Amino acid sequence: MTDEILQVRHFIGGEFVDSLDGATFDSISPIDNAVVAHVAEGSAADADRAVEAARRAFDDGPWPRMSPAARRKIIHRAADLIESRLEELASWETRDMGKPISECRTKDVPRTAHNFRFFADFAEMQHTEAFPKPWDNVLTYTLREPVGVSACISPWNFPMMLESWKVAPALAFGNTVVLKPAEQSPISASIIAECFLDAGLPEGVFNVVHGFGPDAAGERLTTHPGVDLVTFTGESATGRVIMANAAQTLKRVSFELGGKSASIVMADADIDLAIKGTIDGIFRNQGEVCLAGSRLLVQREIYEEFLERYVAAAEALVVGDPRDAATQIGPLVSTEHLEKVLSYIELGQAEGGKLMTGGHRVTEGALALGNYVAPTVFADVDNSWRIAQEEIFGPVQVVVPFDTLEEAIAIANDNRYGLAGMVWTSNLNTAHRVAREVRTGTMWVNCFFVRDLRAPFGGMKDSGIGREGGAYSEEFFTESKAVVIQFPS
Ligand code: NAI
Ligand code: MG
Repeated sequence: MTDEILQVRHFIGGEFVDSLDGATFDSISPIDNAVVAHVAEGSAADADRAVEAARRAFDDGPWPRMSPAARRKIIHRAADLIESRLEELASWETRDMGKPISECRTKDVPRTAHNFRFFADFAEMQHTEAFPKPWDNVLTYTLREPVGVSACISPWNFPMMLESWKVAPALAFGNTVVLKPAEQSPISASIIAECFLDAGLPEGVFNVVHGFGPDAAGERLTTHPGVDLVTFTGESATGRVIMANAAQTLKRVSFELGGKSASIVMADADIDLAIKGTIDGIFRNQGEVCLAGSRLLVQREIYEEFLERYVAAAEALVVGDPRDAATQIGPLVSTEHLEKVLSYIELGQAEGGKLMTGGHRVTEGALALGNYVAPTVFADVDNSWRIAQEEIFGPVQVVVPFDTLEEAIAIANDNRYGLAGMVWTSNLNTAHRVAREVRTGTMWVNCFFVRDLRAPFGGMKDSGIGREGGAYSEEFFTESKAVVIQFPS
């Protein structure tokens, strides 16, 4: 593994460039808190420059006017290049934000390439509607057109995967893009920009501006009159600010925000399956997952037995250097985030949670340099406590017992978020009832994280606005135009 320090620059108008004022910031590796990259720090002026490039490419360039098939060819070429650089992308992503490299190799990088191919193919199958009224000699039909310049603002927990989830449909449907990657994990976005450059994407169609949010490049993208839409994934509080800022210029917005999803384990569940799924549900990616099943609701009859096995499974997880293929839990993204997660662990104890395992940093050997937290389980938690209500975004599970199905559904709904949920049961009626009655964007039955990219993805309540995926992304990233023809009678 290299200790090389990268220079990461903006990608604007088809060129890699420094900030206008020359400013840079350091991206830090959570493995050892050493510098991984010197990154161009975008100001509002750099965002302006990127929006102008994207604007020109949209207003005068070939991209929005090309056939979906021609766009598909270029996007597929970029996806092939992404795949051919799998090892490079995986190792930089792991160093930059700490996720286990095995995950990057088998999930993040392949899924990034797949997102691009999926939307490129989907856009080619675009269909429109016709509303003929032959009795009046009127034919109305619809056209789908790209919206314009898309600002894509993304978080650090699945950097390249979530960037591609936004950028792929934006490009496939003919928009131009300015991407602002999370400041904690800027590297992979620049490698993806290289892939698009090499794939022959016309200049200005895809731009990347690095830097921070408030009073910087991120905020400017949400206020710039030249930006037509904003798609954002991150914290709910940030979504609120972005929506207020974007309101001045009436941008369309799509938000995928926080979650505190309930995972309901019924006494009739396949327990082996439920343990495996609910462990994965909170500890995958160190718990830095918006969809995480971060409230574990277990029916009283099996509560003690389940808990015992659950704790043993949590203790068996391998915490370590994420560059080791055997590691299952890497370090938390930053020292600030580490402090936040540790403060929730302290709070959990103060609130009366029974700490079953974990609850501390892991500091053996070289791990002392990084932001590692042991998988933590609190039992006998009351759903009203803050550790059961707020998004911790770390490897911390809270376990709440319940007696009846009605009670489980009420607890699941007693939260300001509504992003996802899981139910573990062998009873089809129970599964269907939970799916219907829990207010959430996705409900998984006896599984977790399984996705069909055609399905709607997003959240209810404070978890978001809008849905993305397949035709839902098409709806967001295109304008529908009605064309009305009156024939002479
Ligand atoms: P954040 O929501 O502040 O940042 C996400 C992205 O938005 C970054 O690219 C950031 O630069 C940008 N941004 C921030 N403020 C902005 C503004 N005013 N205008 C435009 N762009 C702006 O999330 P952050 O600070 O990285 O994490 C804070 C907490 O949010 C985490 O501890 C975690 O609990 C939660 N989180 C939730 C995620 C989810 O998917 N639900 C993802 C990331 C974080
Ligand atoms: Mg970093």
